[in-house]
Amino acid sequence: MNIPFSHYEESADYLRQRIGGFQPKVAMVLGSGLGELGDRVEEPTVVPYGEIPHFKTSTAPGHKGQLVFGHLAGQPVVVMQGRMHHYEGYSYEETTYAIRVFRLLGADTLMVTNAAGGVNQDFKAGELMLITDQIKPFLDSPLRGENLPQFGPRFPDASYLYTPRLQDLARETAHSQGISLREGIYLYFPGPQYETPAEVRMARAWGADAVGMSTVAEVIVAAHCGMEVLGVSLITNMAAGILPQPLSEQEVLAAAAAAKETFSALILGCLNKL
Ligand code: HPA
Repeated sequence: MNIPFSHYEESADYLRQRIGGFQPKVAMVLGSGLGELGDRVEEPTVVPYGEIPHFKTSTAPGHKGQLVFGHLAGQPVVVMQGRMHHYEGYSYEETTYAIRVFRLLGADTLMVTNAAGGVNQDFKAGELMLITDQIKPFLDSPLRGENLPQFGPRFPDASYLYTPRLQDLARETAHSQGISLREGIYLYFPGPQYETPAEVRMARAWGADAVGMSTVAEVIVAAHCGMEVLGVSLITNMAAGILPQPLSEQEVLAAAAAAKETFSALILGCLNKL
């Protein structure tokens, strides 16, 4: 428990050597099956997680486990191809480690995407959802333990975790590109088992529109260190119990693959207008 500030600095120092004078503005954490956007980065510098001091590796399917630095839609970015999840055995502090390193490298914006199960019955599989707020029930905060004031305050505000200005940007981008964009609240379950139908009813009663196994801790850490955040979910399936059929990982990955182009267009459009 409690990673010292010196580790973050050592990771950042190593990466600075790898990327020369390049300074990313936008950090991108891309979810299941959506990591391909990283392959479109221009003049990329690719750094596998295993080469970076103190970095953990990602074991989830569809997650490559490397950083890609370069330009995307005119912005200097670092793309995380593969994220760390709590269900892989990592603490929340470990799953969010890279975000703080990106901040030390100069990134001031986090774009985060994920695959999620639809809880709002108006949604359909294959739709995109702008995340307007989140619920992280009962479990440890990634900020638990000694606060590192170099990053932010002990008790950070969480009223605007998802930056209103960036939400507007996403709405405008979707509208101008003719992309249908739902909006809603993302509720975190730790997984790796999908939710039970009873848990999904609870999620709905609590006001959630989608459920998923990532994102919330990363967003808390990014906001804590002063980054602006844009979050978009791809509704890969309706959550358990909504349709009379079981869920499968194949279904989730297939839906992610099918929506790749629309999803990429939205994210690239937002990047371009930042
Ligand atoms: N639940 C949790 N995580 C998910 C789901 C789901 O239904 N679909 C994709 N990721």
